[in-house]
Amino acid sequence: MATMKQDVTIREAVLADHFLGIVELYRAHGWTHAKDPTRLRRAIECSSFSVVALYDDEVIGFARAMSDEAFAVYIADILVSPDRQRQGIGRRLTQEILRHYPLDTFHHQVLVAERGAEGFYRKLGLAPVSTFGLTAFIRSRSDV
Ligand SMILES: CC(C)(COP(=O)(O)OP(=O)(O)OC[C@H]1O[C@@H](n2cnc3c(N)ncnc32)[C@H](O)[C@@H]1OP(=O)(O)O)[C@@H](O)C(=O)NCCC(=O)NCCS
Repeated sequence: MATMKQDVTIREAVLADHFLGIVELYRAHGWTHAKDPTRLRRAIECSSFSVVALYDDEVIGFARAMSDEAFAVYIADILVSPDRQRQGIGRRLTQEILRHYPLDTFHHQVLVAERGAEGFYRKLGLAPVSTFGLTAFIRSRSDV
């Protein structure tokens, strides 16, 4: 497994090269974004920073973030191919984003965790907002 990890490259996403693979990742996880690729492409284009995990030029992981490039960054999606999970790829994608927006400059690195992913984010050093005496508020649709 150690050899496989070394063969996986993490780099900034280039939509011309990686978009079809990114859509496939959203589809593989059953996320509604994949139903409207045009809208998904716009979402990624309008994101501040997007990274892919590549294995032999195949997209096996993706993450994106939105930021004001000064104080705050919001991590939107982190996806790893179902058959490549638990190999450290999600960690590397997330760390690439967290390093891009370091806490010595930025005040907050924020995300909304999907059910079942809380443990993953805790392993990466993120904590529930209540840890800081804060409360997160959200309005959200129930059908996505
Ligand atoms: C969540 C996800 C991105 C994790 O990616 P991954 O490549 O499997 O994670 P990693 O192998 O880098 O795991 C890093 C650490 O977190 C742990 N971990 C991974 N997924 C976990 C989970 N669901 N619950 C608890 N711990 C988890 C790993 O065991 C590992 O721990 P270790 O450092 O002690 O070995 C991946 O499972 C995924 O794509 N899930 C579906 C999409 C999703 O829900 N994304 C999150 C959106 S908020």
